[in-house]
Amino acid sequence: MTIAAPGRGPALGLVAPFFLAAPAGLLAAGLILAFSNGDTLLAINAPRTVAATHAAVIGWLTTAIFGAIYQLGPAVLGGRLISTRLARIHFAVHAAAVPTFVWAIWRWDVVLMSVAGVGLVASFVLFLINAVPAVGSPWRGTLPSRYLAASLGFVALAAGFGITWVGALEHLWFPVTMGRLAGHAHLGLLGWLGLTVMGVAYQLVPMFNVVQRKYPVAGGHILAFTSSAIVAGALILMTDPGPWVRVTVAVAMTAGPALWGVEMLRLMLARSRRTLDVQGRATFVALGFLAVAIVLGMLAAVGEPVSPGGEPARILLAYGITGISGWAGVMLIGNSYKILPFLVWYHRYRQFAGIRPVPVVADIYSEGVARATLAIHSAATAVAAAGALLGELDILRTGGVLLAGGAALHLASLAHIVLAPHAPTPRPVGPGEVATR
Ligand code: HEM
Repeated sequence: MTIAAPGRGPALGLVAPFFLAAPAGLLAAGLILAFSNGDTLLAINAPRTVAATHAAVIGWLTTAIFGAIYQLGPAVLGGRLISTRLARIHFAVHAAAVPTFVWAIWRWDVVLMSVAGVGLVASFVLFLINAVPAVGSPWRGTLPSRYLAASLGFVALAAGFGITWVGALEHLWFPVTMGRLAGHAHLGLLGWLGLTVMGVAYQLVPMFNVVQRKYPVAGGHILAFTSSAIVAGALILMTDPGPWVRVTVAVAMTAGPALWGVEMLRLMLARSRRTLDVQGRATFVALGFLAVAIVLGMLAAVGEPVSPGGEPARILLAYGITGISGWAGVMLIGNSYKILPFLVWYHRYRQFAGIRPVPVVADIYSEGVARATLAIHSAATAVAAAGALLGELDILRTGGVLLAGGAALHLASLAHIVLAPHAPTPRPVGPGEVATR
């Protein structure tokens, strides 16, 4: 398994802007949470909550995934981009549409929401034109390739329902009920973000942690079962069913991610690389958050009888925070400190290797800063989720401030990786080697 030839992928200048812009979405989500008001704990569809959610899922996670797919598709999965120019236009459209959409939701300005929502749909269409041939078929190919192809179908569905709900809010075609909200949310969260995280992990977890003695055994079945559960579950949720149907849907939807978690744990425990770096640590932390999110999701499906304070919004909010920021977000942060330094090394230094001293990949990022970012982000996520569960606005706001602080550090460290010159670390000259430094 290999991260393969980035040379087959697009230039660093195309991929890096997506990775650098992404933490700004997390920064915005953290700041919005820091300004939570009483409504945040009373209704999951309060404007500030929906604004923070979309800043996180579209501004942060989706933006980084766009960059990762543009890179991994051609370089690792054997696909191709139709046009790198289109990908640059896509970045500009996305960068304009996301902040406008988040602002429109914050203000609950449904007309502006419609305009920006159309911009978002345009962004997803531009992305899919390049991503579909880059990723390959959901039926054939490697596990990561099939997961990513399926996730592209789900992002199209999520965006389609999303813009329809915006239309419903503006023109009052029908009410956007809690069930309809949940259907759209799970197509996006589990179908798009979840399957992407799971598929990319099948590629990167064994590779970065050097797993040679164990192989995934159930990846294909997990994909088939989870995809069917999301399609059926989202449609059923949109009919606003009673608690027992919701619990059945929740069991079906969480079975796949839970089994994937067991697979990842098996792989991690069989790794040859004993010392965990930031990516290995992030994998364990993310698995912990996934377990918590699954429990909270089940409780949220039961609803009021098991909700702290009789307020279902609190458990739903904690579920969203642990799933989005804890599971998907932590995995993304861990992987970003591997993918981006490798790309910088490949595009900037590889051609000089053997000619003059060049940095190795480990010289291009600071493991200490990466671990600090991971620690702050994980603590922030736990604090915010605890604040939601306890119904304590001040704790939730503190979590928001910490999330924003972690995002700022993440952004600064990624910018340093891409923009700063990197010096090779002196190492002892081996017998027969020429001292070049
Ligand atoms: C074109 C893209 C999208 C549009 C126009 C859109 C629009 C919307 C709208 C109108 C709502 C319901 C607002 C309400 O009545 O309360 C909503 C909720 C939600 N959406 Fe999206 N959405 C889009 C994409 C996505 C994606 C890709 C994801 C996930 C990755 C996502 C996740 C969610 C979640 C989790 C909620 C529930 C938020 C909450 O209650 O706090 N959306 N979206």
